[in-house]
Amino acid sequence: MNNFVVKGKIVDILQREIYSGSVHIKEGKIEKIVPEDVEEKNYIMPGFTDSHVHIESSMLTPQNFGWLTVSHGTVAVVTDPHEIANVMGKKGINFMMDNGKKSPLKLFFTVPSCVPATPFDVSGDLVTSADVKKMLETGKFVGLSEMMNVPGVLFKDSEVLAKLQSAKDCGVPVDGHAPGLSGDALLKYIKSGITNDHECSDLKEAEEKLSAGMKIIIREGSAARNYEALKPLIKTSSDEVMFCTDDSHPDDIIHLGHIDKIVRRAVADGYDLFDVMKIACINPVKYYNLKVGTLQKGDPADFIVVKDLHDFKVQQNYINGIKVFDASFPEKRECSVADSTVCINKFNHNRIVASELKKEVNKCTTVISLTDGELLTAPYEYHPEKPLKNMESDIKNDILKIVYINRYRNGKPQVSFIKGFNLKKGAIASSVSHDSHNILSVGCSDKDITKAVNRLIEEKGGLTVSIEGKTHALPLPVGGIMSDKKGEEVAARYSELCDYVRQMGCSLRAPFMTLSFMSLVVIPEIKIGEKGLFSYSKFNWLK
Ligand SMILES: [Fe+2]
Repeated sequence: MNNFVVKGKIVDILQREIYSGSVHIKEGKIEKIVPEDVEEKNYIMPGFTDSHVHIESSMLTPQNFGWLTVSHGTVAVVTDPHEIANVMGKKGINFMMDNGKKSPLKLFFTVPSCVPATPFDVSGDLVTSADVKKMLETGKFVGLSEMMNVPGVLFKDSEVLAKLQSAKDCGVPVDGHAPGLSGDALLKYIKSGITNDHECSDLKEAEEKLSAGMKIIIREGSAARNYEALKPLIKTSSDEVMFCTDDSHPDDIIHLGHIDKIVRRAVADGYDLFDVMKIACINPVKYYNLKVGTLQKGDPADFIVVKDLHDFKVQQNYINGIKVFDASFPEKRECSVADSTVCINKFNHNRIVASELKKEVNKCTTVISLTDGELLTAPYEYHPEKPLKNMESDIKNDILKIVYINRYRNGKPQVSFIKGFNLKKGAIASSVSHDSHNILSVGCSDKDITKAVNRLIEEKGGLTVSIEGKTHALPLPVGGIMSDKKGEEVAARYSELCDYVRQMGCSLRAPFMTLSFMSLVVIPEIKIGEKGLFSYSKFNWLK
């Protein structure tokens, strides 16, 4: 291992000072830091840590996600592999950990706590309390992942209690997931041992959780964006907050950044530089007890070199003393391993025929109504002009067919309608659909939906578009939710597909992402799933 010296302006976040000097690296660790006059003007600082991310949402393997994010100054992530766990259970989690060894990033895994997300979901596999115990006892995980089963905690479900107990026994934190929870219910939830939350979208909600003892993770990703609402906490509670992305698409990482994008914004908003850097670089390391260096003598040599402390343009990124990114040679990286160990999957559905999508509509019908940029949906009562033996769509009124197909076994497609996509022609389909990752499709005609779905089945997962007799795809052969290609390729193909969807009339900011949340029944109000439309407020299927 190389011993070397890096010179510049050293940013000591813990001591809140910046001084000229040299950092001496020996065998992957910081041997010493010497204050001295140097000519170098770049800043040397600890790297960024994403405190909660589902890597699968980037549609990249951990390896390729790592090579993309190190260029943005990330040195570590705390990752919950619950997307792949819903597809393939423990085998999927093992895949993420094995593949992660090829990533330049330091990856710290948490054990998924809610697979499947609800008893109404039909996923490809499950993670039981016995599985959780076994995994935590290996010592390879830094926590128990987001506990989405709030009723299970409040009403003391035995499986949930067993999972919480395992985390307690192993001395690791339990991540929360409690949007809107307050009052006595919140206190009960916290008392069960859950110590953080990344689902706050409102400052008051976050302040209540903070005063009850929780850490708050400010989330700014591709799906949910809470920075604007929660940013005052940077000033008032800098020791108690962290940053995360939760879900990030590859094009967003390339064009907007990763944790660096939140840091840039917070500094531009005038928040104290050291507070912002502490939140981005130090707090997650302390909270999760991560083996990540914070630029102190004896630490692992994990640090970044940036041009300034406004744009944080990364010049170099070092992890364990190895230079994993150099802006002078940005293309020099190991990526995209399309070997047989990468292409694990579970996809067992035969092609469909258009006649399976027939839906009679003869009176007022409830349809899903969506709003761009929101995960929440509402019921909309649609009155057809005349009874129809099979309604394909009512394009004039933006009522399109939405189809759900279980991808793990053959069965009848569930067919309903949705308002808000505004497609004027064609269809789209996806096997990225939270959290069970079954097949969802929206389209103007049964023929196009059939073509989009069948291309998806042919690819054994991915995103597809059917337009004017042709289909286009971003194949996702890894669990039907990730590509084996490198970030730039996936981002470019994803952008191409989104362009097709815009040409089809859709004005949604991220149509595939919107579609992917249409079967997530833990977010209100109307969703589609295994037995048709689901009502969150009734927490049951609509008859
Ligand atoms: Fe999450």
